[in-house]
This record gives sequence, C-alpha cells and structure tokens, in this order.
Amino acid sequence: MAIDAETLNRVLWKIPNVLCLIGSRSGDQWNGMTASWVTQVSMEPVLVAVSVDVSAVTNRLIREGGIFSVNLWDRDDTRTFVKFSKPAQKSEMALNGRPIREGVTGVPVFTEAVAWIECTVWQTVECGTHDLFIGEVVDAGFREDVEDPVVARMEDTRMKYGGVKRGGL
Ligand SMILES: Cc1cc2nc3c(=O)[nH]c(=O)nc-3n(C[C@H](O)[C@H](O)[C@H](O)COP(=O)(O)O)c2cc1C
Repeated sequence: MAIDAETLNRVLWKIPNVLCLIGSRSGDQWNGMTASWVTQVSMEPVLVAVSVDVSAVTNRLIREGGIFSVNLWDRDDTRTFVKFSKPAQKSEMALNGRPIREGVTGVPVFTEAVAWIECTVWQTVECGTHDLFIGEVVDAGFREDVEDPVVARMEDTRMKYGGVKRGGL
C-alpha cells in the first residue's frame, strides 16, 4: 500500500460516524455494545447495516438470534459508551444498569435511547475482521419525551475506532 498506517488511520478517523449501542440477543443471552459503524443502506426495503467484529459476543448473538437493535443516544451522555465496550452484565431488565425492554422481535431496546431502530437480519456480508449485518427495519421510534433529539457522534468523545488493525498494515 502506498500509504503509511498512521496517515491512513488519521484519514479514516475523519469519516463522521454516529455513536450508539447495538442490542442483541440469542435465547437468554442479551448484550449491548458500543458501535460507530452504522448506516442506512437501502430505502426499499428499508435496510440499516452495522459492522461487528467477528470476535465480539454481539457478533455471535446476532448470527444466532437474527435480530439487533440500534439505540441512538443523548449527545450529553457519552460516558455510557465506555461501559459498553466489553460484554454487558444483565440484571433483571437492565444491561450494565441501563433499563431495557423487549422489542417486537425480542431484542433488547434501551428505554433511555432517544431514538431506536429494531431490525431482523436481511443479509450478512463477511468483511474480513468484521461481519456486516444488514438488517431490515421492523420497528423504530423516539423516546416519548423527546421530539427531535441531538444524538451522540464519534466527535463528542476522544475515543477512536477503526483505521488499520493494531500492528500496522
Ligand atoms: C467508540 C467506539 C466505537 C466502536 N465501534 C464499534 C463498531 O462499530 N463495531 C464493532 O464491532 N466494535 C466497535 N467497538 C468495539 C466494541 O464496543 C467492543 O469490541 C466490544 O467489546 C464488543 O462487545 P461485545 O464483545 O460485548 O459484543 C467500538 C468501541 C468504541 C470505544
């Protein structure tokens, strides 16, 4: 490659991304995961995709369960994302102490999310280190007390995700 890893990282980190929580579930195993590689990829059908590391618990749960939720978060509460960058603890109907409800597909939806999208897996594309889960949207909405929320993005934190795999090109 005609580019060094550091420059490529700095360029790729400039791509604006949302910062959200992905809910997943397989049977009685539930999880929430911090994610930034999320985007809409089709209008008809309405498809939303998330790219998940092949070694993440979330990857296995989405593969097994065939469902996931995208939970958009309040821009002023980015500390939550630190907690969800390792497998979440479930107690009653909460993950890492954040309340959840069961969506129409059975997937966990965070009740504090300012907006949420629930998907069934439409297609899975293997992309090297990650699997791109393309989901068909089956339900979506806003938290009742918010109308037009401002959602968290990568630039709201000092966290970075993406670029080249640790160790270089
Ligand atoms: C800011 C930030 C953004 C992240 N974005 C993603 C992402 O888009 N896809 C992904 O697979 N992991 C992403 N991660 C890493 C996961 O949150 C992390 O690997 C987590 O441990 C995987 O969770 P799980 O094993 O509980 O499923 C991100 C982490 C941080 C801190």
